[in-house]
Amino acid sequence: MAKRKDIRKFYYDHEPFYATIKGEGGTGWPIVCQKSQNYLIKWAQTEDFPKDSRVLEVGCGGGELALELAKRDIIVEACDLSDTAVQLAIAKDPSPNLTFFTGNAMTHRGFPNPPYDYIIANQFLQGIIGGDRVFFLKRMRENMTPAGIAIIATMLGVPPEYEEEFNPTTRVNSANTIFFATLEMFAHEVAVSNLRAIKHIKVDDYFRIFFLVRS
Ligand SMILES: C[S@@+](CC[C@H](N)C(=O)[O-])C[C@H]1O[C@@H](n2cnc3c(N)ncnc32)[C@H](O)[C@@H]1O
Repeated sequence: MAKRKDIRKFYYDHEPFYATIKGEGGTGWPIVCQKSQNYLIKWAQTEDFPKDSRVLEVGCGGGELALELAKRDIIVEACDLSDTAVQLAIAKDPSPNLTFFTGNAMTHRGFPNPPYDYIIANQFLQGIIGGDRVFFLKRMRENMTPAGIAIIATMLGVPPEYEEEFNPTTRVNSANTIFFATLEMFAHEVAVSNLRAIKHIKVDDYFRIFFLVRS
């Protein structure tokens, strides 16, 4: 069977928006859920990381979380599909234990230096549509150490501000940029990817953070 092509530019290309953000003097993607971001920043500051832990963040945007992680004594790699996002992140002068690079999280070729102790997808998964979501969860699992943890902060359900553009048949918005999974759908995706949640934070009615390990 022919190998599926990597999804280089798929449903939504963030690059033009990053070009606008950069042109207007911005430093990263507008945070979708600040409460969720605050939780992960605090986690990055306080987690008891095992010695020499290796962390990969996918869809890192302007790199705020990765920069916070790199203040700890760990190795951090962070990628985004958008070259401009990566340029914005690099402009923040990362420390030597942090590498930003342009990379596709939806690739069959795997991630650059596996296995990772932690793989983080912060405010990323809601932009992945349909069956590609399980594809991504499986990529996370394949690239983790046996005791590795996948951390997913994601929107679930349909926040009121999206109700008008929500298509209940496809569960995608009109711009084809967001997939509105329910909690039950996500639980199923996790199970079929042979992952299980060890911790689950309900940030608000529409945003949750999951810590997943191999099942
Ligand atoms: C909603 S933004 C979140 C950015 C950042 N994590 C944050 O919380 O501010 C989603 C990010 O995922 C990136 N992205 C989308 N598809 C990607 C892919 N296939 N591989 C890597 N990054 C991707 C986008 O360029 C964008 O920066």
